[in-house]
Amino acid sequence: MASQSVLFVCLGNICRSPLAEAAFRRAAENAGLEVEVESAGTAGYHVGEPPDPRSIDQARSEGIDITGYRGRQLSKEDFHEFDFIIGMDRSNMQDIARRDPGNGKAKTAMLLDILPGQEGREVGDPYYGGADGFAITWSEVDAGAQALVAVMLSENG
Ligand code: 4NP
Repeated sequence: MASQSVLFVCLGNICRSPLAEAAFRRAAENAGLEVEVESAGTAGYHVGEPPDPRSIDQARSEGIDITGYRGRQLSKEDFHEFDFIIGMDRSNMQDIARRDPGNGKAKTAMLLDILPGQEGREVGDPYYGGADGFAITWSEVDAGAQALVAVMLSENG
């Protein structure tokens, strides 16, 4: 079976979704799950840019180098290419639904809806706050990533 694929989506693709991508890559690797992982923004503000320096620092503090990540914008083709498209907040989910061509294969979900007990919670945007917000973002996306790995492992089996 071809490996499954996941696209994490936030607004700018420089704060939350790169951290979700990093956390998920590590969680999948730890679980022995073979999976393609990318991230994208609903907006095109930061296309081609590296992650926010505060995201880079947060990932580095977890031992993960994300300096090579580059921003890109969510496209209609993504709905055909990815098995899962995972947004961070309700606004992302609205933008994802608006771009969904309707005939793709991707299942869409808000990240923390996958985490038992955290359904309905958003991963808040840390962009306008300080570095401490990025530690909170990390703990949220890491927990959500681990829950998604568990779902994908069960679907694999
Ligand atoms: P992100 O955060 O969606 O988590 O990447 C943001 C990054 C940039 C902007 C907004 C949110 N911006 O307005 O440029």
